Amino acid sequence: MTDTTTQQATAAASGAAATEQFRGKQRTEAAEVDTKRVDTLVTELLAATHDIIRRHQVTYAEYDALKTWLIQVGADGEWPLFLDVWLERVVEEVANASREGSKGTIEGPYYVPDSPRLPAEAALPMRDGEGGTALLFQGQVRSLHGTPLAGATVEMWQADNDGLYSQFAPGLPEWNLRGTVVVDDQGGFRIHTIQPAPYQIPTDGSCGTLIRAAGWHAWRPAHLHLKVAAPGHQLVTTQLYFQGGAHVSDDIATAVKPELILDPTPVADGTGREVTYDFVLDKA
Ligand code: DHB
Ligand code: FE
Repeated sequence: MTDTTTQQATAAASGAAATEQFRGKQRTEAAEVDTKRVDTLVTELLAATHDIIRRHQVTYAEYDALKTWLIQVGADGEWPLFLDVWLERVVEEVANASREGSKGTIEGPYYVPDSPRLPAEAALPMRDGEGGTALLFQGQVRSLHGTPLAGATVEMWQADNDGLYSQFAPGLPEWNLRGTVVVDDQGGFRIHTIQPAPYQIPTDGSCGTLIRAAGWHAWRPAHLHLKVAAPGHQLVTTQLYFQGGAHVSDDIATAVKPELILDPTPVADGTGREVTYDFVLDKA
């Protein structure tokens, strides 16, 4: 074990980092949600909950267990984790229902903007001797009409071979396995990285408590995170998974789609694996 992995990744530390990251991000303004919408959505959410309480004859003991747990989710900073694992996929489904180009899926809590910019062929920043099978991830960014999008960027972030994300687990270099690749004049990119390991959401905080109480497991399949952008086109936020990998068919976040499964092949010189995946972006 290297000294970067001797420090424990804790739910409290990654929860605090994910909470801080979310507060700093400007995906939308809370003020955009109007009173009528809040009234409708919260009224229906409460009515659905009331209905569950009646149908299942929820007891005071269960109500107090829920209250204790909800208080602890906040104390642990695990709201970003909880929401992105169990709700985000449906928000993404609704947001991108009419998209014709490449499929998206959840962003998750571990995106950090402004990663180092890299040329069209580049290795993601990584440590000397970074663990894991080498992976060459290559492809082209095109419009719906097949035009190469020369101005595109392919932003990638991923866990390492221990399932840890830089800036959310201790001891990793700041931008480890994070980068923003600027495609070439044919929309092409060749990114040298490593195949990530399956990822277990932190189990020592409230999400872990819930998972144990319900008899579930905490695993997401190994995945690459991507944001692909080009001027005049819709940004795609997605993840790519690996054929035959553990938990591809029982992802705790239910974020796998058939179009998002890669099947890399061994590189002829025996140095690792490679796969080609093209992105098609809808017009903005
Ligand atoms: C979570 C982690 C991920 O890496 C991801 O892609 C989605 C969700 C999580 O821990 O909530
Ligand atoms: Fe992830």
